Amino acid sequence: MDKKPFYITTPIYYPSGDPHIGTCYTTVACDSIARYKRLQGYDVMFLTGTDEHGLKIEQKAAKEGITPKEYVDNIVAIFKKLWGFMNISYDRYIRTTDDYHIATVQKIFKELYDKGYIYKGEYKGKYCTPCESFWTDSQLDEDGRCPECHREVTQASEEAYFLKLSPFADRIEKLLTETDYLQPANRAAELVNNFIKPGLDDLCVSRTTFKWGIPVTFDEKHVVYVWVDALTNYISAMGFYNNKYDDYGKYWPADVHMVAKDIMRFHAIIWPAILMALEQPLPKHLVVHGWISYNGQKMSKSLGNVVDPFILGERYGADAIRYHILREMALGADSSFSNEIMINRINSDLANGLGNLVSRTVTMAEKYFGGTLPTEREAADVDSELIAEAEALRANVDGYMDKYQLNNALAEIFKLVSRANKYIDETEPWVLGKDPAKKARLASVLYNLLESIRIATTLLSCFMPSTMPKVWEQIGAAESDVTYENAGKFGVLPLDVTVHRGEMLFPRIDVDKEIDELNALIGANAPAEEPKTEVQPVLPQIGIEEFAKCDLRVAKVLACERVKRAKKLLCLQLDDGTGGRQVVSGIAQWYKPEDLIGKKIIVVANLKPVVLCGVESNGMICAADTPDGAASVIFPDQSLPCGSKIR
Ligand code: MSP
Repeated sequence: MDKKPFYITTPIYYPSGDPHIGTCYTTVACDSIARYKRLQGYDVMFLTGTDEHGLKIEQKAAKEGITPKEYVDNIVAIFKKLWGFMNISYDRYIRTTDDYHIATVQKIFKELYDKGYIYKGEYKGKYCTPCESFWTDSQLDEDGRCPECHREVTQASEEAYFLKLSPFADRIEKLLTETDYLQPANRAAELVNNFIKPGLDDLCVSRTTFKWGIPVTFDEKHVVYVWVDALTNYISAMGFYNNKYDDYGKYWPADVHMVAKDIMRFHAIIWPAILMALEQPLPKHLVVHGWISYNGQKMSKSLGNVVDPFILGERYGADAIRYHILREMALGADSSFSNEIMINRINSDLANGLGNLVSRTVTMAEKYFGGTLPTEREAADVDSELIAEAEALRANVDGYMDKYQLNNALAEIFKLVSRANKYIDETEPWVLGKDPAKKARLASVLYNLLESIRIATTLLSCFMPSTMPKVWEQIGAAESDVTYENAGKFGVLPLDVTVHRGEMLFPRIDVDKEIDELNALIGANAPAEEPKTEVQPVLPQIGIEEFAKCDLRVAKVLACERVKRAKKLLCLQLDDGTGGRQVVSGIAQWYKPEDLIGKKIIVVANLKPVVLCGVESNGMICAADTPDGAASVIFPDQSLPCGSKIR
């Protein structure tokens, strides 16, 4: 029987700097999904690649005195090395400088022009070079800067081609609000309210101010806008309008495009519009994840907090890094990377949890039976709960994988690991081992443990591909035992299975020593000096009883939106432990609603209500002044319950 196709893509990366742990996330997540689908028996096409055109690249290359192609070649080599190091099992790697891709983009541009969707006009507007995005005046932030990166924009006026988006507005709105295209679905509102409802402006899709792009065939002084060039990769890599590949009929429409939230708009609006104009089917799902920050700060080179996956991978193994970032990030929410949390997780889940389970089980099988279990068995009531959990695991993990909730899938697998460790404590095999009459019972206990390990690690191998084969070696599982089919069954290993004790899978890490060493490594990249700020004099003293009158507490942001006609204000709905609370805060210049939704913040809960721009505010969000005059919201420990008092 022919296998069912499954096509998954990462964004194609800008080769404009070294990849960091944040850039790894999507690729590691897609790789785990691709591996899971392969395990399930799908014919998987997993595509990744690099987005190599644009002014930014042209400028960087010029600065280094090399050609743009030489520049991207160098960085693409680093990306490929990283993907090898992280065990990324991509099936195809596309570079937008590849000839076949260029041919496809040119044909698509011409077709859309011939159909009247692309027309020539004059572009007058604001352009953000780092984001390679055009913005209308109404989209700029409070200071007239780019709404994405808040950097300077330049006024640009030139002859340009435009793509009509308005003919597709209704269909796109329906796609976002009435289908399961966008996941998580709650992101649809911001797209509809910010972009579709105000009216979809035509998109400027060509540039004449730089050369490093794909020329428009019928007007060679223009190059194609980098986003039209980039989005096309998803179909050019399957052979759409080129002779390099012939898989378009088989794999398109893609099952999943996975992207981070900052590039959702391009994939949720512009890409569907292009496909609609081409009369091609739309991808099935757009899965949008949040951002990984570093200890709550945005990862950036200038802050010296870019976490290097090579350094971490060499210290703890690529699998441990993969596990940590996948386990940490809930789909749709942001997550904060911290060395301390990562090391503690490696110790608790991998060293104490899985590693210990495997090593205790295998060691006991060797100690009591010389490595090969006898075939006699004796069941007991306590076995049934473990067996039932092991048998249910595959279906539970399937459920989460179908919803792309990788963190929950991993949590399920590790629940079984914990359950099996608890089973060791319940059954006390070291006591059974002393009693010759309990041999059959001991064999049952060890067999049940080996089976639980087999099932958990079969599924886990999609997330941690290099370690699990080492476990199988130790528990005596053959390749045919660790299939998807057998992950749904208990009792697959032969009764007289032979184990082989091997190396320790995840050595325990000395947390303090390791943190010091990592901080020293990161410190080496950090800016030399602590940032300075204008320090205000300390206010006159107050008594503790006066301070006690302030009700400061932890609250969770349940919802957040911009206040209409007030560029500085956000309106937040909070859970402060006593119920709902609405607060208006003047932080819209520095935070987008999605930066805050789901986060815990600190609120002054007993301020008298005020009305700001027509909206009632019941409290104030605590934020610190930054040296450059911005506000930095204070995020407390995110595990604190809502309502926790600050004292
Ligand atoms: N070239 C475009 C994508 C074109 S797709 C047709 C691009 N490239 S990028 O290199 O800037 O980013 C690639 C992906 O990495 C994006 O989804 C981006 O959001 C993601 N990430 C970059 N830093 C990240 C974190 N710190 N955390 C999570 N994802 C992050 O955008």
